[in-house]
Amino acid sequence: MPRPKILLTRRWPKAVEKHLMERYDVAPNETDQPFETSELRDAMTRYDAVCPTVSDRMGADVFKAPEIRAKILGNYGVGFSHIDVNACKSREIVVTNTPDVLTDCTADLAMMLMLMVARRAGEGERQLRSRSWTGWRPTHMLGAKVSGKTLGLVGFGRIGQATAIRAHKGFGMKVLYFSRHRAAPEIEAETGGQYVDSLDDLIVESDFISLHCPGGADTRHLINAQRIERMRPGAFLINTARGEVVDEDALIDALKHNRIGGAGLDVYEREPDVPNGMIALNNVVLLPHLGSATTETRVAMGMRVAANLDAFFDGKEPPDRVA
Ligand code: 8YV
Repeated sequence: MPRPKILLTRRWPKAVEKHLMERYDVAPNETDQPFETSELRDAMTRYDAVCPTVSDRMGADVFKAPEIRAKILGNYGVGFSHIDVNACKSREIVVTNTPDVLTDCTADLAMMLMLMVARRAGEGERQLRSRSWTGWRPTHMLGAKVSGKTLGLVGFGRIGQATAIRAHKGFGMKVLYFSRHRAAPEIEAETGGQYVDSLDDLIVESDFISLHCPGGADTRHLINAQRIERMRPGAFLINTARGEVVDEDALIDALKHNRIGGAGLDVYEREPDVPNGMIALNNVVLLPHLGSATTETRVAMGMRVAANLDAFFDGKEPPDRVA
């Protein structure tokens, strides 16, 4: 039996590429340049498995070739709103993701963004590095206290819950959450999360709003101009979920006019493009999609893709099948 041919659309951690090469005929992306749509479409006709990342736009066009060879997309990442899953279903292509392994690091980063924006960490670092810090004084760069404040979580899956635990147990925060489904009582007890059945109510009651819902058409611009308008004057918006959940122009407008306290962002509507209007602002912390970016987690994500491919090519149900 020839070994299945698999394509990794980007460079993966060495340990994982090596692991995959033991079983598969692996095509790594030596240059690490993202593929064009036409290259992805072509890849679907030449490989048994294609393993994309968030930087690949896997829209309907990618699945239009008359003969598709790929039977599985082993997505490297938990979010898969960059993949047209309906198109995959209609071409009978299985899609898997990598849950669990990035929960802690993404929740850590959400907490980091809260602290950074509220305590003006980015601004302070920029001041010091530009040699314009003149020394300690009682009124220097005063931020907002994080401990004891109210955090509103939008989405209460694994990452939302892990963020709740950190905020509640580590920082004594009151934690509210809005989600499609109310969590079980034991999860609420363990995380400290209190269910709020309306997103608009959650927004007015929160000092920090942190997004943990999936991206895609259903949540596009969930945080729009009206909802940003409802935020408390000094409140902060944190996004480690997907850029499209927030109307970026509306957020820039609110930040520019100091209608909210600030924002901490790891994801953007048109990555890697970040609007000039956003870059120009001091009251927003901007990270380049680093949520899962630790060596431990990126290796674990790759191993999770490998486990899904192994199950699939052994004729078993892949553990993390999403379509
Ligand atoms: C990943 C992420 O690094 O897993 C996700 O959904 O947002 C990131 O942590 C990225 O998506 C890799 O494809």
